[in-house]
Amino acid sequence: MKLYKIKKSKIDKNGLYANCDILKGTKIIEYKGKIISVKQSENDPKFDNGKAIYLFNLNKKYDLDGNFKFNTARLINHSCDPNCEVFGKGLKIWVYAMKNIKKGEELSYDYGFSYDEDYINYPCKCKSKACVGYIIREGSRWRIKKKKKLK
Ligand SMILES: C[S@@+](CC[C@H](N)C(=O)[O-])C[C@H]1O[C@@H](n2cnc3c(N)ncnc32)[C@H](O)[C@@H]1O
Ligand SMILES: [Zn+2]
Repeated sequence: MKLYKIKKSKIDKNGLYANCDILKGTKIIEYKGKIISVKQSENDPKFDNGKAIYLFNLNKKYDLDGNFKFNTARLINHSCDPNCEVFGKGLKIWVYAMKNIKKGEELSYDYGFSYDEDYINYPCKCKSKACVGYIIREGSRWRIKKKKKLK
């Protein structure tokens, strides 16, 4: 049985949802794409944006460009309280359950966006209790919280 299905998302357009209960640590879906050299991705204006949502670094030499229709995992939305995480092994990238996930829950992971001058352009609609309002990686969210406190 497939562990996931595509459904309209409450976060953004479409998303992936658990098709059954999924145990923590389960390999859910491969993040598929085309392997390109780091040199290629550095020189291609397509990847100019620092928030390269579909680009994963595999190692010193290679990146994985996941911006293809065949890559169903690209539909996974960001959440500030995610239930999945993405790990690379060799030249493969997989999405894993980082907690037990109930059937019907939307799958999500932390997009890992850095905190920089344009964070404001990436509002987050994950609606989790932990949401800071912007798509920013967990380790940098304290900056937003600090900003809010100072206001
Ligand atoms: C990789 S796609 C995710 C799939 C997308 N929902 C779709 O149907 O194509 C990434 C885009 O989804 C949107 N997105 C993902 N997570 C989001 C979130 N937590 N809040 C707002 N928009 C989000 C953003 O527009 C982002 O650029
Ligand atoms: Zn959020």
